[in-house]
Amino acid sequence: MTAPTYHLTSYGCQMNKLDSELVESRLRQRGYEPAADEASANVVLLNTCSVRQHAEDRVWSRLGKLRIRKRAEPALVVGVLGCMAEEHKRFMVARMPHVDLVVGPSAFGDIDVTVENARHKNLELAKVHDPSAGKHAVAGAGLVAAGIGVSGDTIVRDVKVRPHKSQAFVSVMRGCNMPCTYCIVPTTRGDEVSRPIDAIVEEAARLCGDGVTEITLLGQTVNAYGRDLGPGITLAKLLRALHEIPSLRRLAFITSHPNFLSEDLIAAMAELPKVARYLHLPVQSGSDRVLKAMRRGYTRERYLRRVEQLLAKAPDIELHSDFIVGYPSETAAEFDESASLMLQVGYAQSYVFQYSPRPGTVAAGLVDDVSKAEKERRNQVLLTIQDSLCVQKNNALVGTTQEVLVEGESPKDATRLSGRTVHHRIVHFDRPQDGGLDLVGRYVPVRIEQAMAHSLVGKRLAENEAEHGRGDREEPESARHAHDLDHPRHDGTRPHRAATT
Ligand code: SAH
Ligand code: SF4
Ligand code: F3S
Repeated sequence: MTAPTYHLTSYGCQMNKLDSELVESRLRQRGYEPAADEASANVVLLNTCSVRQHAEDRVWSRLGKLRIRKRAEPALVVGVLGCMAEEHKRFMVARMPHVDLVVGPSAFGDIDVTVENARHKNLELAKVHDPSAGKHAVAGAGLVAAGIGVSGDTIVRDVKVRPHKSQAFVSVMRGCNMPCTYCIVPTTRGDEVSRPIDAIVEEAARLCGDGVTEITLLGQTVNAYGRDLGPGITLAKLLRALHEIPSLRRLAFITSHPNFLSEDLIAAMAELPKVARYLHLPVQSGSDRVLKAMRRGYTRERYLRRVEQLLAKAPDIELHSDFIVGYPSETAAEFDESASLMLQVGYAQSYVFQYSPRPGTVAAGLVDDVSKAEKERRNQVLLTIQDSLCVQKNNALVGTTQEVLVEGESPKDATRLSGRTVHHRIVHFDRPQDGGLDLVGRYVPVRIEQAMAHSLVGKRLAENEAEHGRGDREEPESARHAHDLDHPRHDGTRPHRAATT
């Protein structure tokens, strides 16, 4: 008998992508195989995101199309996984009766059993299916596994099932306990739960044993890691433990909350040479009144002080941020404070999001009174400022040699390969004659020749040329770290362009 096939699409953040990897791992352990494409799959799974309306709209429209297919193929299994499954668990099947399974992020641990049950149920339904009965005949298995369940972190990860051979995500904590008024994540992901250090180190060591050299630790407030485990269990301690893995070369972590940027974390970032030289520290707004309304728990001043403390100890770290524009009642003057903060910190990268009301959140009870056009304008202002900061920083790198972890073919140019620098910048360089696929996963020296806002273009140097390249020109402080570390972003989005929703 041929193995059943699946097709899985991720719509969300890095945690969502990691979850997809764990789900795939589980399905393969159960004998499922990846389909060549969605159209030929027996099981179609959408791992979804609820963070903004736009993210949800894409999934609703995808599900609408799958309904048509299911009319002709009643045995097809359609599954909604992830944050939308959790958020809409009560009425997902009522709204989309052809959906067979609705599985929230806390119930991925036994996803294989849920999928199998749906498949068997559907094969039975298909036997009695009457295609002449029209659209009302479209029925799904209606299995809902949300709320509490078996976490994906209990899955014994098949280290072979990962998209990049040298890069991997590792979840260190699930959920979020923060009270940000606009955010749906605490609802969809539940309470904060940290994984024990030993479990994380064991998983990281297995990944490194299979060729991974760069690990990105994931958590919604990753730097709050361990506070539920007991005193002394911190992200800094975890970083120090992981640092001992000999073949690990780069260690990044996302996303940090400003309130947990502690002294011991700053010390670890300053001291540990494998730790990534950037920090994603979303500020959301530069206005004290808006920050308070959002319940972020810090002021502009306090945020800036933390950043200062970090840079005093680790001056080569670059800051990345997220901003929300058009939060209810945000005035134009308050928005200007976000713009001035962006400039003041001089972020290397920012994601800018237009406020999107999420049902059930505190902010959803407020009037969404900033017009779409004004949100659009504020969005553009921040993007323009961020672009100019990027151009400035990228220009400063022209003439330097950067170590690049090669990720693969450049997404828009098959004649080039691309990878990331120590500060998470994308670098493209010409492919060698033989296609250069053996370079993927390797750290190569690239001399930067051209700077754009969103990427750099350079020439790959032979190892012996690299030394000369370095000496040619004074490198900016940011490029002079003792090692050339970098951080991958696997979501394929362009930095600070991601947010037009
Ligand atoms: N846990 C991370 C990221 C959470 S979601 C953190 O706290 O930093 C990623 C980003 O989406 C947030 O940083 C915020 O900028 C944005 N976001 C969250 N909810 C939003 C909403 N309702 N409307 C617009 N942007 C939102
Ligand atoms: Fe959402 Fe705030 Fe938690 Fe981030 S810290 S996931 S923005 S509630
Ligand atoms: Fe989206 Fe859920 Fe991640 S809402 S941003 S997929 S945690």
